[in-house]
Amino acid sequence: MKITILGAGNIGSTLGGKWVQAGHQVRFGVRDPQSEKTRAAVSKLPDALVESIGQAIPPSEIILFAVPSAAVEGIVRENSRALAGKIVIDATNNFGAPVINSVLTILKYSPSARVYRAFNALGWEIFAQPQFKGTLADLFYCGPDDTTMRGAIERLIYDVGLRPIWVGGLDRMLVVDALGTLWVTLSFQRGMGRRLALKLLQE
Ligand SMILES: NC(=O)c1ccc[n+]([C@@H]2O[C@H](COP(=O)([O-])OP(=O)(O)OC[C@H]3O[C@@H](n4cnc5c(N)ncnc54)[C@H](OP(=O)(O)O)[C@@H]3O)[C@@H](O)[C@H]2O)c1
Repeated sequence: MKITILGAGNIGSTLGGKWVQAGHQVRFGVRDPQSEKTRAAVSKLPDALVESIGQAIPPSEIILFAVPSAAVEGIVRENSRALAGKIVIDATNNFGAPVINSVLTILKYSPSARVYRAFNALGWEIFAQPQFKGTLADLFYCGPDDTTMRGAIERLIYDVGLRPIWVGGLDRMLVVDALGTLWVTLSFQRGMGRRLALKLLQE
């Protein structure tokens, strides 16, 4: 698949690495493609392209937001037409705000984007190493119930090494957000550390 990752920090470079490894065509959209920080972050990913945000969005079918929440509105405003109709994944968290995701901001400026909430509720270290003594951690996500699009999202989740669990449509986004808040609460406030993930048990 053709994937554009906006942001090449912890989340962007970790997920990008997994998706390059899985054979996807990955491009990073960043505000300064020449910056030392970005170059260092993608130095181990020679197969990934690094471009400006405006250049990186049009060629891909899937766009992942892996930038600070405060940057989302400006990016979506400037690229609303290019985002139209694309699968957009929101991984951003604005902890402390009444709503921590950026889904409605994205839809406000690009209403025809097909937005999914995913990759928000675990730390980047879990994306880097998702196995716990042989057990796959689960990745809860939500977004439109479309077989093709959910298939693409779930392929990307499996390619990171996680098991996808669809929680429902975007009306479930606060549920998926709450799992991120739970992760942060346990990791930091309860001192359980960042090697922490979630597993659904069912019979
Ligand atoms: N860290 C985690 O474990 C984790 C887990 C789940 C979700 N998240 C969420 O994922 C997002 C990224 O987190 P991160 O840890 O990867 O952050 P990070 O390491 O700080 O990387 C942020 C990336 O966004 C870019 N950026 C910053 N401000 C920008 C702007 N105004 N316009 C365009 N690009 C901008 C940075 O580029 P420059 O180099 O140009 O600054 C960098 O590439 C955040 O919303 C975070 O809440 C993080």
